[in-house]
Amino acid sequence: MNVVGIDGDVLGDALARVQRDVDSVFDAFLPVPGDTRARLIEAMRYAAIGGGKRVRPLLLVSTAEMFGVDRDAALRAGTAVEAIHCYSLIHDDLPCMDDDDLRHGKATLHKTYDEATAVLAGDALHALAFEILADPETSPDPFTRSELIQTLGQASGMNGMAGGQMMDMVADEEGVEYDLSAVTRLQQLKTGALLAASVEMGAILGHIPPEGRSHLRAYARDIGLAFQIADDLLDVSGDEGKAGKALRKDAGQGKQTFVTLMGADKAREQARALIDQAIAHLGSHGREADTLRALARFIVERDR
Ligand code: IPE
Ligand code: IPE
Ligand code: MG
Ligand code: MG
Ligand code: MG
Repeated sequence: MNVVGIDGDVLGDALARVQRDVDSVFDAFLPVPGDTRARLIEAMRYAAIGGGKRVRPLLLVSTAEMFGVDRDAALRAGTAVEAIHCYSLIHDDLPCMDDDDLRHGKATLHKTYDEATAVLAGDALHALAFEILADPETSPDPFTRSELIQTLGQASGMNGMAGGQMMDMVADEEGVEYDLSAVTRLQQLKTGALLAASVEMGAILGHIPPEGRSHLRAYARDIGLAFQIADDLLDVSGDEGKAGKALRKDAGQGKQTFVTLMGADKAREQARALIDQAIAHLGSHGREADTLRALARFIVERDR
């Protein structure tokens, strides 16, 4: 992948490695059965294997690595977060939501299969995430497993991704007018929560107590917001071929974003300021946090 930003090659290698590894974890969890469920599992594989940047697993694995966590355990937890992410995209693309035909450079799941299969593949990927986290192979310590499950559950549900998606869906309804703080909250729930959970779960696997995670939370909050601003900027000025999804749709669908509220230039400035702030939160770490620093830069400079 062509990664722009500091330590570009190092980050490109780390992303490529995590992409390969997450693909093989999904592959191992999703054997296609010889019965009439086959269509469901084929659809899950279609959405989950190949295509995504795997930013969330890399955040988790890189955080875990800073604390000496076993890579296979971190990859399993990273794949669990990615399962939630893939399910959220399958549902996000449905005609009743953003109604998109292209994802990861290929037809969306409901276009290749059908809507019922897309709903069910999302449901099953959602469940798979928690099944992976509850497995002692992810962590032999039941308290760690329970904390991982709680963290991902909170980030996925009404106080996280699903809640943010609801705010996003009603943005174009009459009488709904979001100001900057409402859009910030929408974005932090819709996108920030899962990114923050990825960092948090890396620290949980590293047995870092909550009071030792506050600077990581601050880093994650800033990159989470910057990530969605970058996505909204890509929507107005990105290249569809590179992004692998339809662009220039947000305005027509009545989405309210930093870009609609403050314009592209100010939004880009804001995203870059958030990234500088995110990197400053890592000041107590040395070279071991370099991947997190490079990933922060990549998040705003990316073209896909
Ligand atoms: C896209 O996320 C949807 C948002 C939450 C903005 P990603 O940019 O991480 O999607 P991938 O890399 O294509 O999976
Ligand atoms: C989606 O945001 C966020 C999710 C929780 C899936 P968008 O609707 O902006 O994501 P894209 O642009 O379709 O990837
Ligand atoms: Mg959407
Ligand atoms: Mg969408
Ligand atoms: Mg978008």
